[in-house]
Amino acid sequence: MSKDDIRSLPGVGPKTAEKLISAGYDSLIKIASASVEELMEAADIGEATARKIIEAAMERLGLLEFKTAEEVLEERQKTARITTMSKNLDSLLGGGIETAALTEFYGEYGSGKTQVGHQLAVDVQLPPEQGGLEGKAVYIDTEGTFRPERIKQMAEALDLDPKKALKNVYHMKVFNTDHQMLAARKAEELIRKGEPIKLIVVDSLTALFRAEYTGRGQLAERQHKLGRHVHDLLRIAELYNVAIYVTNQVMAKPDSFIPGLDSVQAVGGHVLAHASTYRVFLRKGKKGIRIARLVDSPHLPERETTFVITEEGIRDPE
Ligand SMILES: Nc1ncnc2c1ncn2[C@@H]1O[C@H](COP(=O)(O)OP(=O)(O)OP(=O)(O)O)[C@@H](O)[C@H]1O
Ligand SMILES: [Mg+2]
Repeated sequence: MSKDDIRSLPGVGPKTAEKLISAGYDSLIKIASASVEELMEAADIGEATARKIIEAAMERLGLLEFKTAEEVLEERQKTARITTMSKNLDSLLGGGIETAALTEFYGEYGSGKTQVGHQLAVDVQLPPEQGGLEGKAVYIDTEGTFRPERIKQMAEALDLDPKKALKNVYHMKVFNTDHQMLAARKAEELIRKGEPIKLIVVDSLTALFRAEYTGRGQLAERQHKLGRHVHDLLRIAELYNVAIYVTNQVMAKPDSFIPGLDSVQAVGGHVLAHASTYRVFLRKGKKGIRIARLVDSPHLPERETTFVITEEGIRDPE
């Protein structure tokens, strides 16, 4: 019982335990991954106590033990990949979208970020031999651009039962950043209830943050909150071996005149740049071609490829 785990942590009296649990810190992993400040606020405790509780939770979960590189490699072999239905795009990413990682696609309007999100929500349902994980998807939609019709169309193109395919995608439209952060936690609840969620799409990750925190003076607050959201997503990714796919807008760099990669930058600054395991920049080429550039990855070189968006979905160019 995870609630009893919390009651038995050193430094946690019955009162503190109830406060923690009612603030949502109802498992060791949630406590272990909380910041000292968050816990202080949630349980109305001092800094030293909060530190002690977090450390105890980490200890119980074995998070304070070093692993050898050999063990890490073994763990990494458990990560799986979801195909994008474009061989080009898959190989750019080292075989598709990785589980236990956060993949960010950013780029201009109409470059294909949302289409890729829809395609992945269908592909995750495929059997492994076809590039899927026989899983379900959660789609957190901040822009109102989710289209079940498109899911149906893409599923039919892959000979999936469209009715089943639609049932396997959980969609939530969110209206502000608090709502968006709650949606991530609700996705975790679904997983804990036993739903085989293997993909979480957040489209767009940053738009509401940008809309809500407009002034220069609010930038630090925005980044802090975005950091917490991304941290939540990454924790879910790693804990349940789920792939996270997020979309992001670009903004013009103030000092650049040449169009292309060098003239724009992703929204979200360092917070997002550090959290994304894979970052892909999309732009529109000639004749409907989309150009994808891998700009950041822990073990793959920076490189480019092309794909197209068709009736059937994401595919390689002819
Ligand atoms: N059914 C379809 N068949 C073919 N192409 C389609 C279809 N639906 C959408 N597209 C293509 O996808 C493009 C839109 O891509 P998408 O919505 O993914 O862009 P985005 O990067 O999410 O843009 P934004 O920043 O505005 O959210 C359209 O311009 C069109 O070229
Ligand atoms: Mg979009």
